[in-house]
Amino acid sequence: MIKKDLIDLKAICDSRGSLVVLENGNNLPFELKRVYYIFGNDNSVERGFHAHKELQQIAVALSGSCVMMLDDGEQKVEFLLNNPTKAVFIDKMIWREMKDFSPDCVLLVAASMKYNESDYIRDYDEFLKNIN
Ligand code: TYD
Repeated sequence: MIKKDLIDLKAICDSRGSLVVLENGNNLPFELKRVYYIFGNDNSVERGFHAHKELQQIAVALSGSCVMMLDDGEQKVEFLLNNPTKAVFIDKMIWREMKDFSPDCVLLVAASMKYNESDYIRDYDEFLKNIN
């Protein structure tokens, strides 16, 4: 099942601007082990095209926008990420594809495990076999 609601990242706002915290035990649905960010993608670029066996992630567009498509093998849901206070949760065994990057898009991803190529499933048929 894909959660259709985005995670609300509460912003602390004052006259200077806004601040968002990602903190273990507070607003993350897993223990944080790794953060990376994706930027400078041409608008025609599509990324992702994989699932993870164990990894859980959240993704939030810190600036600009992109579309994240999530697929659990039964349903596909598209999320427009265009708000630094809204994150999408990507559970284990969810196929993801990203597209429609704006030139200023900076997509932050927070992850539950260190990078491990053997956790990736990069073949869609293998993904479907693994969930059944
Ligand atoms: P990949 O996860 O395939 O990117 P995307 O899903 O956005 O298309 O990663 C792209 C490359 O970066 C790939 O060679 C693996 C490498 N990489 C790391 O070395 N460490 C990391 O934490 C991540 C996420 C990727």
